[in-house]
Amino acid sequence: MSSPVEISFTLNGQRRKASVAPEASALAMLRDDFELTGAKLACGEGECGACTILVDGGSVCSCIMYAADLDGRAVETVEGLDTGEVLDPVQAAFVEHGAVQCGYCTPGMVMQIKHLLAENPDPDEAAIRRGLEGNVCRCTGYSKIIDAVKSAAQSLRTG
Ligand code: FES
Ligand code: FES
Repeated sequence: MSSPVEISFTLNGQRRKASVAPEASALAMLRDDFELTGAKLACGEGECGACTILVDGGSVCSCIMYAADLDGRAVETVEGLDTGEVLDPVQAAFVEHGAVQCGYCTPGMVMQIKHLLAENPDPDEAAIRRGLEGNVCRCTGYSKIIDAVKSAAQSLRTG
């Protein structure tokens, strides 16, 4: 068995260290070592987006990223949106527009939308569809998710 790799990174704003197997995925480390189970394992092949997290502000499929490659990076997971007071505007819009059914895709979808709206605060429907094309939802038919993105974008723009 290969020797563990020592890494140091920022996780939801806090400095963290971890000792990870070279072959361990970022998703496995987050779920198993840090008990951050928002990001989900579904396809395990980078095709569905259920495991989406942000790394240095970019969205990545954590199931196909090595944990060792997080060394020195800034990682954000859906748990980092929890302020304990009010829902994040994207999460609030999901509730308001009924964009959650089974919920399995939701954490990854929310993180992808955070990335989308950081890059484009006022996306039209085509831009929203393009921005979410790597995130699969089996339940909602997407229209409610798109409504939620439009609503979250508006509330973020107007404060
Ligand atoms: S579980 Fe990572 S992309 Fe599907
Ligand atoms: S709400 Fe079930 S997969 Fe999206």
